[in-house]
Amino acid sequence: MDNLHKFLVVLEGQLAVPCRLMNSIAASFRQAMLAGLSGKPSSLKMLPSFISCPTGREQGKIVAVDFGGTNVRVLFVELAGKGKTYIIDRRFFPLKDRLGTYDYTASSASGIELLNFIAGKIAEIVPPDGVYPLGHTFSFPCHQYGVNEAVLISWTKEIKTAGVEGQNVGQLLQQALARNKLGHVFPQAVINDTTGTLLAAAYNDADTMIGAICGTGHNSCYLEPCHPISNGPMIVNMESGNFDGIMQTKYDIILDQASEKPGAQRLEKIASGQYLGEIVRLIISELATNGHFLETADRLRVPYSLPTENLSTILADSSAELDEVSAVAGSCWGMRNLNASQLKAIHTIARLVTSRSARLVAATWTGVLWKIDPALSRRHTIAVDGSLYEKMPGYAEQLAKAMSDILGEKAKLVTIRLSKDGSGIGAAIAAATVFKSV
Ligand code: BGC
Repeated sequence: MDNLHKFLVVLEGQLAVPCRLMNSIAASFRQAMLAGLSGKPSSLKMLPSFISCPTGREQGKIVAVDFGGTNVRVLFVELAGKGKTYIIDRRFFPLKDRLGTYDYTASSASGIELLNFIAGKIAEIVPPDGVYPLGHTFSFPCHQYGVNEAVLISWTKEIKTAGVEGQNVGQLLQQALARNKLGHVFPQAVINDTTGTLLAAAYNDADTMIGAICGTGHNSCYLEPCHPISNGPMIVNMESGNFDGIMQTKYDIILDQASEKPGAQRLEKIASGQYLGEIVRLIISELATNGHFLETADRLRVPYSLPTENLSTILADSSAELDEVSAVAGSCWGMRNLNASQLKAIHTIARLVTSRSARLVAATWTGVLWKIDPALSRRHTIAVDGSLYEKMPGYAEQLAKAMSDILGEKAKLVTIRLSKDGSGIGAAIAAATVFKSV
């Protein structure tokens, strides 16, 4: 066995998530849920949403704002009842201009500037006449004190905008709407994107019990059948990206130490799209440092120089020559003369890193199922939105396989489905469940 091959064998052992490990992660995830729900120390925040599932009969034309990362989406949605939703209009705005003229996600920008920008974009989509409820998906951990009162605990996903942590996000948006003369738009609800994803799927599928985002960030929520606050059903945002019952490799530790918030979001930093390319880069960097790649490149040392789109390209390449892998190594790192086994190594590393992500996420979902239906006696839908789930080659399949590895025959009762645009449509549904009249 040559050295490169030995390295890959060791790496495979470090990144593998065999069934027994998935089982023990699922069990400790369930324990962390129980602890978090009863106010005991837990890496799961278990944040109440003050929202339960929709009936599918909610109706109306509603504005939805979906802010979860470096882009904001504004949607104008029609809920037609009978589980039918239509997007009448939608716009997508980067919060960070490619040319560098503005960046509302940087610490040099203030929350007021950020919310003003968002309100300006709402003004572009909402009709000037009429009265419109608004639902706001805000995909960061928030203490929720009511359906429309959410206080940002801390930014995640490397966002740094000043003056928003500790603030009531609902109020900040309300003030920005007033400044932008949008008095006919009435914010009703602030929800997490996982909640939105669950609501959008539950609007036409009453078996939906879990909502998750597998995208730039990672998190899941679920429908708690008997929440201590309401003594009834309520969606709980677990902030499962912060789950810490998993082992870190040395690459994960390096990534975490160099991140904006070391120690936080352990699962997210192992499993989400924001970080997968960086883990792959760190592993390849080590290969280069150890002389496994004759060609070393300075650009390989640049953090986050393998964006998720390029990771997708690597995984999609099933050709014998791995030309696409070679093109990515060339464009990202200027490494243009890699041989066949080195290209194969890059492909294998990408596969191992993404497969670990899918299996860890599947283990956490199993933990939720064990909490809400220990005997797995009925059907459950897990609604998922996010680019990793939708676009990363093989990711959705890996998730499904991991669920059947861990649940065996019972996996037939579990449907994992894409809740396309769920985080935005869900905000409209949340607003409709609350909106009475003005
Ligand atoms: C946030 C969650 C969010 C997830 C997916 C995480 O970084 O903490 O609130 O649901 O990203 O967007």
